[in-house]
Amino acid sequence: MPPSTAPEPTTSAAPRRAGTAERLRFTAEVLLPLLSTGVIKRRPRGMALAERLQLDRRSIASLRRLRERHGDGPLPMRLAGRPLLLLLDPGDVRRVLDGTPRPFSPASWEKRGALSQFQPHGSLITRGTERASRRRLNEEALEIHRPLHHLAPAVVRAVREEARLLADRGAVTGQLAWDAFAVSWWRTVRRTVLGDAARDDHRLTGELGRLREAANWSVLLPRRRALRARFLDHLRQRAEAAGPDTLAAAALAHAEEQGSDPLSQIAHWLFAFDAAGMTVLRTLALLATHPEEGGRARDEIAGTDPGGPRTLPFLRACVLDTVRLWPTTPAVLRQTTEDVEWRGRTVPARTTVLAHAPYFHRGDPYAPYADRFSPDMWLDGRARADPALIPFSGGPGVCPGENIVLLHTSTWLAAMLGEGLVYQLVSRLRPEPGRPLPATFNPFGVRFAVH
Ligand code: HEM
Repeated sequence: MPPSTAPEPTTSAAPRRAGTAERLRFTAEVLLPLLSTGVIKRRPRGMALAERLQLDRRSIASLRRLRERHGDGPLPMRLAGRPLLLLLDPGDVRRVLDGTPRPFSPASWEKRGALSQFQPHGSLITRGTERASRRRLNEEALEIHRPLHHLAPAVVRAVREEARLLADRGAVTGQLAWDAFAVSWWRTVRRTVLGDAARDDHRLTGELGRLREAANWSVLLPRRRALRARFLDHLRQRAEAAGPDTLAAAALAHAEEQGSDPLSQIAHWLFAFDAAGMTVLRTLALLATHPEEGGRARDEIAGTDPGGPRTLPFLRACVLDTVRLWPTTPAVLRQTTEDVEWRGRTVPARTTVLAHAPYFHRGDPYAPYADRFSPDMWLDGRARADPALIPFSGGPGVCPGENIVLLHTSTWLAAMLGEGLVYQLVSRLRPEPGRPLPATFNPFGVRFAVH
């Protein structure tokens, strides 16, 4: 096949290949932290250590050094006998995301090895022509372009009810931490995806959790086929019993479409909502420690009807900047489907292409937003125009769940902040204005005193 003609950025000459010492350093400072914290299911102990050592700061510094030495890149290297292309320039990120799924397929071999543990036919790991119908199911069921999904009233009802119960508990115990929040969060997720009857089906989320733990090891572990079959069967029963006001019903409406496999897509949604829950607690921590933004959030909530679906632009911007600061998909991976011409050299087919989101999101060390909480740039268009900021990816492989995530998370934050309670951050690590925000922020360690 001839090399792809996808448009090339025009800057700088062909980069050298990374040397042995650089590869070792890259493995130690960038790859090992990613693997030890758990790419598909975060490990609480790994996250605690990563936060203590601020491992993301080291990863970002490591990539900055590579850029200083090699220029814009992209930097080719071989790792474990396989070719890897490391992106160092935002223009290249845009090129790769815009060139999805050809010549840059999202179904990289590492991702297939990982996600096939629980979603054998997920759109993200589908190659070739079948991807189109699976991607379409996601876009249509999740209503990719609608800020308020048609299920928004049901989402608001579920979130308000669960947040009320959580607030009552917080008022009694005087505290809030991940474990209590996660129970309530997952109840709203199961109700949104599978209906009220699935509210307390912790077993389903537990089975998925065990498969995700196996997925952390990607190709290094064999498929857990028996557990996967049990989980998918359990999920099928739940999806078939889900009422009309659920995402599962929206997915099953596409079941007729050839090969779209709704169950794999629903499994991806359940998995991906976990990251959104972590983002809620991190955003709450930022709002608790940044009085100006905290005040603006409360003003926004006060001016709206708590019982109705709301777009809450400022809270959404706060969530977006939280995933910018602490991206929940730190490694955005693609794999070349054919030879690709890049600054005078040919990148061979089947090369893994890596965009390391924490490096791109903190930008140049002197970028005004780098280590600061900057929700306003999501309101005035600056962030959307910046190819370096990819918390929800971009191009034809952009996260189709972004709007439903922003609806769910902003409704949760509004419900918590609107209950008349005050959350005071009392964890070890405090992200404060006026000081560079931490590069690693462990959601399992976040603790609030509730007044
Ligand atoms: C904080 C929450 C979330 C963030 C930051 C996020 C971000 C992302 C990113 C960066 C990707 C691209 C991954 C890649 O290219 O390898 C992605 C893909 C995807 N996300 Fe999300 N996501 C979130 C939650 C969700 C939720 C809750 C859903 C569904 C309800 C969802 C549905 C999807 C799907 C289906 C894909 C695959 C798209 C494709 O195959 O082209 N995401 N997400």
